[in-house]
Amino acid sequence: MRRNYTLTDRLIGHADNMLRTLAAKPTPGRPSPQRETNIDGLSHAEVKESSRLMRVNHTGEVCAQALYQGQSLTARNAELRKIFHEAAQEENDHLAWCEQRINTLNGKTSRLNPFFYSGAYGIGAFAGLLGDRVSAAFLAETEYQVVEHLDRHLQRLPARDQASRSIVAQMREDELKHATNAEQAGTTELPGAAKQLMRGMSKVMTTLSYWF
Ligand SMILES: [Fe+2]
Ligand SMILES: [Fe+2]
Repeated sequence: MRRNYTLTDRLIGHADNMLRTLAAKPTPGRPSPQRETNIDGLSHAEVKESSRLMRVNHTGEVCAQALYQGQSLTARNAELRKIFHEAAQEENDHLAWCEQRINTLNGKTSRLNPFFYSGAYGIGAFAGLLGDRVSAAFLAETEYQVVEHLDRHLQRLPARDQASRSIVAQMREDELKHATNAEQAGTTELPGAAKQLMRGMSKVMTTLSYWF
């Protein structure tokens, strides 16, 4: 028998997800793609740069969890909620892989994560209120922008840090799949100004989480 969740049930589930994302150690459903984990061959500067870039990616995954939760709160179509849920599981793998790598690099996750989570949750819920086609289009555009961002990180990550690079490469592949899945659910064209606003907001997030 399929249970019908009330809004209260779902809000409790969302609060639980928020606490698990921000405060618990995530358990990945898939093993990390990195083969070589040690950092012995890297210079001090390379370790520092990798840990900062992986912190940015970790914060991006915190935001991904929040966006999916927010969007699924206001999605009307159960099928679309299922797409959000499935993608969120893979984002949880990304979250866990980034965190593991940051720990190996002796880095820290961003202390601004609670702030970013709240903002992204609100944005996701708002996108959902605009209707399922807008919400799916928002998701697809977010994922395409993340793919561009990860391409830039593949340029910036130290060439010798194969472990971080393999994590980012697998994330890129997954994000592209999330974008196409969202498009298959049925989207509409987002206004150019909305896409620019999304780029601006992610620039703020990536800049702040690089330093803090
Ligand atoms: Fe991701
Ligand atoms: Fe994604």
